[in-house]
Amino acid sequence: MTTATLTRIHTPTDYLVTRLLTDAEFAQLRAEALAQMPLAGTSIVDTLNPDADSPVHCLDTARGGPALTAFFGGTTTLAALERLTGRRWQWKHRSEYGLYNYYREPFHFCGLHRDTDSSELTVVTCIHHDPGPGGEFVLFPDRAGDTLAAIRANPDRGAVTLRLAPGESLIFSGRTVPHAVTPVAPGCVRITAPACYLACEETS
Ligand SMILES: [Fe+2]
Repeated sequence: MTTATLTRIHTPTDYLVTRLLTDAEFAQLRAEALAQMPLAGTSIVDTLNPDADSPVHCLDTARGGPALTAFFGGTTTLAALERLTGRRWQWKHRSEYGLYNYYREPFHFCGLHRDTDSSELTVVTCIHHDPGPGGEFVLFPDRAGDTLAAIRANPDRGAVTLRLAPGESLIFSGRTVPHAVTPVAPGCVRITAPACYLACEETS
C-alpha cells in the first residue's frame, strides 16, 4: 500500500490524497449517502469495449442531493482544487446532481480505465469503507503512456494501491492515469462520491 506524499499537483501524472471537507460537512454528506443507499440501482457493463466510454464494472449508484451538489460545485471545494493544482476548475456534471457509488455486493468493482475527456481532474471521496480486503483504488501513474491492454497484461508493474479513509479525497488526472477499483469482499461495503472537473480555460 502506498501513501501519496505530494501536497500539490504539478504534472498530469501526480496524485494526492487530502481532506476537502470539514467534519460537519462530511457528516452531512455521509448522512445523505446513507439516506440514498436504499434507492441505489445497479450499473453494470460486463463486456470489454475499448471504444465505449464506460469501463467494465458492476456497482450500485444513486443520485446525490444538496449536500453532494454543494460539495462538488461549492466555492470552498473549487478554491481548494485551485490551491492544490494552480488552475481553476469547473465541476462537470451530466445533470443537476452528482452520484454516489455503492460497492456493497460481493465483488462489486470497477475495471481498469481512463476517464473520458470530460474529466481532466477527477476527485474521488471516500464516504465509508468497511474493514476487510477489496475496494482499493489502484492507480498506474508511471504507466500513463501505456495502453490499457498492456497494463492488463502486466498489472503488477507500477501499480499504486490506495485505501482512502472516510472523508479523504483522491485527486488525480483521470483522463491521463489509468485506474481501477478492486472487487470488494463479501460483507464489505464501500461508498464513494466521484466527481469530474474541467479546467476553466477549456470550458471558456
Ligand atoms: Fe474513473
